[in-house]
Amino acid sequence: MIERFAILGAAGDLTRRYLMPALARLSAEGAFEPSRELEVVGVARDDWSTADFRARIRAGLEELAPDLSREKLEAFVRRLRFARSDVTDPQTLKRVLEPARGPVVAYLALPPAAFGPTIAALSAVGLADGSRIVVEKPFGDGLASARELNGLLHDSFDERSVFRIDHFLGKQTAQNLLGLRFANRLFEPIWNNQHIERVEIRWDETLALEGRAAYYDRAGALRDMLQNHLLQLLCLVAMEPPTSLGERDLRDRKVDVLRAVRRLSGEEIAKHTLRARYGAGTSGARSIPAYVDEDGVDPARDTETFAQATLLLDNWRWSGVPFTLRSGKALAEDRHEITVHFRPVPHLAFGQDEDPAPNAVRITFDPDRVRVDLNVNGPGDPFRLEPAALTMSLSPQRISAYGKLLLDILEGDPTLSIRDDEAEESWRIVEPILEHWRTGAVRMQTYPSGEAFEPTTTGGEPR
Ligand code: BG6
Repeated sequence: MIERFAILGAAGDLTRRYLMPALARLSAEGAFEPSRELEVVGVARDDWSTADFRARIRAGLEELAPDLSREKLEAFVRRLRFARSDVTDPQTLKRVLEPARGPVVAYLALPPAAFGPTIAALSAVGLADGSRIVVEKPFGDGLASARELNGLLHDSFDERSVFRIDHFLGKQTAQNLLGLRFANRLFEPIWNNQHIERVEIRWDETLALEGRAAYYDRAGALRDMLQNHLLQLLCLVAMEPPTSLGERDLRDRKVDVLRAVRRLSGEEIAKHTLRARYGAGTSGARSIPAYVDEDGVDPARDTETFAQATLLLDNWRWSGVPFTLRSGKALAEDRHEITVHFRPVPHLAFGQDEDPAPNAVRITFDPDRVRVDLNVNGPGDPFRLEPAALTMSLSPQRISAYGKLLLDILEGDPTLSIRDDEAEESWRIVEPILEHWRTGAVRMQTYPSGEAFEPTTTGGEPR
């Protein structure tokens, strides 16, 4: 049983904004029982006492988890302890982790550059059997560094005890794709290139940089969103039916998808990918500076805040179907959705001038819904067609995406974490794009923040 949950990098935004609210809600729901003694230790270099740390986290929870009762909040805060330590130094790290006799969770909520040295320090300390090591995204900044991190982890830890986080897998609507596809006869027989024309996976955000330049300016939209989150959604949309939802079956089928994604040539990258960044503008009452004028941004890094790539899967089911992945910041609206566009019907007997819109299945996140666009007979003349939509609201997510992943970590279930080969395969897809972009061959476009941006790639859809 896990005795101690150590957050390495406890002074950062991830801890305050995501991990603590999720842990506090789990604690309030009794999810830590019977491990009543679970202690949450924040580790950072800051000169804080446990009282300082508790006060900081308490203030964060009052703002970010206002639904928690005072009693439950205080019960969680009492579990917290702070340890001042350099997380890359085995000696001091040992002092922090050693008092726990049983297995621990070591959660690396750190800047990516610190992952390698911290994993090395944890190996030198040596964790009790049954311990888990959790690595946040981005897992490396390319294929070579992902391989290096995997090598370091495997030197000392078993793959089953390694949890690579992608919080999109904790989203209920992402998991619901499995039920929608594999528990209904309706969709699966037509879920292929015979019937589907194209698929779009879109994560448009109104949020801009929000003070995250230290991380984001070195990452950009392609690394921050497409390499991990959107490729994971692609896996769930395109995977073959798994034999079971066990970690091996599910992750094997996901990695099959990644392996089938065609590695784009320079010429294809120029035609089928797009990079852009926001200029000055307004979003509601807020005025947003141009990305290059945001605090901490170095314009010389040429970081994109919008990325789009159209990918092809070389396998029997999907051959010839373009999958367009796009995500951007400071856009007109929050639009988080997967749209599966079907081909037009082969023959229309209605004698109309205009074609009806082909069917589409739209899976939207926040709000979590599935919408099926159909054509039906309209009122009046029944031989005229009208578009109609069947919309179904999915049941609301009971625990947050991070909460779900943290619970799985405590229970030792790696199904919703990224396996070593998945992390490497994702970089195999994205790295050629990054490299080609670096040569300047794909022009950086600009869009005014707060406005819609619907660019099309120069090459249309690849075949
Ligand atoms: C994070 C990215 O992983 O995901 C952010 O670093 C992005 O840039 C966020 O805003 C989107 O996820 P969610 O769940 O907040 O929509």
